[in-house]
Amino acid sequence: MPADTYDLLIRGGTVVDGTGSPGVQADVAVRGDRIAAIGALDGATAEREIDATGRTVAPGFVDVHSHDDAAALSTPLDFKLQQGVTTDIVGNCGAGVAPLRDGQTMPGTELIMGALPDVKWHTFGEYMAAVEAHKPAINIGCFVPHGAVRYRRMGMDRRPPEADELAAMEADVEEGMAAGALGLSTGLIYPPGAFAATNEIVTLSKVAARHGGIYMSHIRNEAEELLSAVEEAISIGRDAALPVQVSHHKAAAPSVWGKTADSIRIIEEAKSSGVDVAFDVYPYMAGSTVLSAARGVRRDIDPDTIMVASVQHRREYEGKMLSEIGEMLGITDPDDIVARVLSEEPLAVAVFFSMHEDDVRRVISHPLCMIGSDGIPTPTGKPHPRLYGTFPRVIETYVREERLFSLEEGVRKMTSLPAGRFGLAERGTLREGWFADIVVFNADTIADVATYQEPRQYPTGVDYVIVNGAVAAEGKQQTQHHAGRLLRRGVA
Ligand code: ZN
Ligand code: CU
Repeated sequence: MPADTYDLLIRGGTVVDGTGSPGVQADVAVRGDRIAAIGALDGATAEREIDATGRTVAPGFVDVHSHDDAAALSTPLDFKLQQGVTTDIVGNCGAGVAPLRDGQTMPGTELIMGALPDVKWHTFGEYMAAVEAHKPAINIGCFVPHGAVRYRRMGMDRRPPEADELAAMEADVEEGMAAGALGLSTGLIYPPGAFAATNEIVTLSKVAARHGGIYMSHIRNEAEELLSAVEEAISIGRDAALPVQVSHHKAAAPSVWGKTADSIRIIEEAKSSGVDVAFDVYPYMAGSTVLSAARGVRRDIDPDTIMVASVQHRREYEGKMLSEIGEMLGITDPDDIVARVLSEEPLAVAVFFSMHEDDVRRVISHPLCMIGSDGIPTPTGKPHPRLYGTFPRVIETYVREERLFSLEEGVRKMTSLPAGRFGLAERGTLREGWFADIVVFNADTIADVATYQEPRQYPTGVDYVIVNGAVAAEGKQQTQHHAGRLLRRGVA
């Protein structure tokens, strides 16, 4: 009897399967886009073999919080693939590139998300179809972004919707969910999403709930009002009867450092009372968003903690703290510095050094916490290094250096936990018959080398990334640009 033959054989590695169970020495065989066998496959042959001796073989990572909505169509997503990410979740923070209002995205979308390809969609479902047709470099799952939906129906109006406007927004969410979106997202610090009252979000979340979706939220406040903002998100999950995800959970001002102990207790209590709540985090002490949201990040502006990351014209601002820019301009008042920069660069993106490491440690080590980069793929400037380094950094810093959790638990946070929660069918675990999304890395050396001043650097220690059975990256070389697929909720 001839030995089994496969397309790809990954030999001799330690298989960390994503479930959290201990790594085991095993070979992994791939046929087509699926994992065909896991075990001692000594007699087997394959078109191609990878020697994984001394390496970890894990499911490809799932970035639960990306802003690659446009980048999926206009870039090779090298900055994600090189981290071992094989699935990106887009449509976060209520922001996205669909649906459109008269062919236009929400103002400012381009500087956050990069240039749009020639836009060929209007509705969210049409956007998803465009992603599917394009075949991105990695898999893409989508949330319907509330801000884009509200912009489509109400522009930038700061008021509650009329009945017909609310019905139109419900229809937009319905259209996206019917097309296979994973749920609804909000960004309650950003206009126009911030203009929505809780009951508007509940009404729209009920549409997502009918389709088995989840509610994903950049909550209304991550600083002085952190706890009431977490409570609002939970109340939406309770009233609309769907799971809730608190995005990039953090305490974003010194006045609330330590408060994640309370927010997590609130989340745990809600969970034990029947609301399905979870959260995600990126492994850095700084956040990043548009400078115009500085007031939404925290009440008082400290120019020594805010760095301008990306602008369109005054490139000399990039990489400088607001205090340095103030010196350059001869301005001392923090509000005046922000006002001046925004007058020249209304779409400036900034990095906010706002968190305490104890909060990040507490959040990231919680069993309900998964990992989302929140990377902002600006084509210019110095994007927050999380865009390039999030996933290697979790292993480097929190598994290897700080030993907050095991490698197996770290991998679970980045694979089976999000895949199960978001309905990414037959992904997130290395299992026979499931999709062959795989990363091979060196657990002793994997590291984030991106910095705030030099962010555009690929991590080290990632050897191979396999997307739907295709070897898409080998070391720092990207070998496939279209191995990814559009993922629909619950559909294999
Ligand atoms: Zn956000
Ligand atoms: Cu975000």
